[in-house]
Amino acid sequence: MGEIIIKTPEQIEGIRKSSKLAAKALDFAGQFVSVGISSEFIDSKIEEFILAHGAIPATKGYNGYPKASCISLNEVVCHGIPSEKIILKNGDILNIDITTILDGYFGDTSRMFTVGEISPGATKLIEATKHCLKLGIEQVQPDNRFGNIGFVINRFARANGLSVVYEFCGHGVGIKFHEEPQVDHTARRNTGAKMKPGMIFTIEPMINQGKPSTRLDKNDGWTARTVDNRLSAQFEHTILVTQTGYEVLTDVKGEFPIT
Ligand code: MF3
Ligand code: CO
Ligand code: CO
Repeated sequence: MGEIIIKTPEQIEGIRKSSKLAAKALDFAGQFVSVGISSEFIDSKIEEFILAHGAIPATKGYNGYPKASCISLNEVVCHGIPSEKIILKNGDILNIDITTILDGYFGDTSRMFTVGEISPGATKLIEATKHCLKLGIEQVQPDNRFGNIGFVINRFARANGLSVVYEFCGHGVGIKFHEEPQVDHTARRNTGAKMKPGMIFTIEPMINQGKPSTRLDKNDGWTARTVDNRLSAQFEHTILVTQTGYEVLTDVKGEFPIT
């Protein structure tokens, strides 16, 4: 277990810029989400956008990962590899996850998109997952413990008949892709390290309709699916601990005013 990095003002500004770019790339990607489009095509547009803005996609070449984004459809929990064989169809739900490196700094964000008409169950799952991320973010303030993030997420998900993925976590981010600490979305109340101003990390709950466990695709070694093939959803932001609360660095829509 390494130390949790406290970022300098200069590093914070760099990570803020990269985070904003990742969020803009995600918005840009949204216009291509429609029936008949492949996830590979969306990924190619994301890569063009990131490169055109002087950044590079952090995922490409990361531990051998081949693409500029992760695009995870329906029962895919995370790390879906964009492919020309994956064609969007009416009723699909998908997470697009983008991590940029701009001037050496990392920003990481993901959210859900929908194709045409989706089921009421899928709508409920997506709304609940978005709310889980909001509850987690609201726990961010100096001296609160990291475990309280997962505690509120898990409590809300379970109260809504949903389950929280425990095999993938949020993480420190900014100087490297994955830093300390691991942000467990099922943690227990008042456990873990204390948050301090200048820490930057992701909260990225993956919420399932059915069982919380995942299985890794044997062929590609990346794609994680729900064990029961039921739907999974995820939202992710990169968050800075401020003197008084938080700043959501990947919020470009003004959904999270700085506290
Ligand atoms: N962006 C993902 C995260 O939120 C990590 C993707 S790693 C990859 O941590 F190699 F699968 F791309
Ligand atoms: Co992340
Ligand atoms: Co991510």
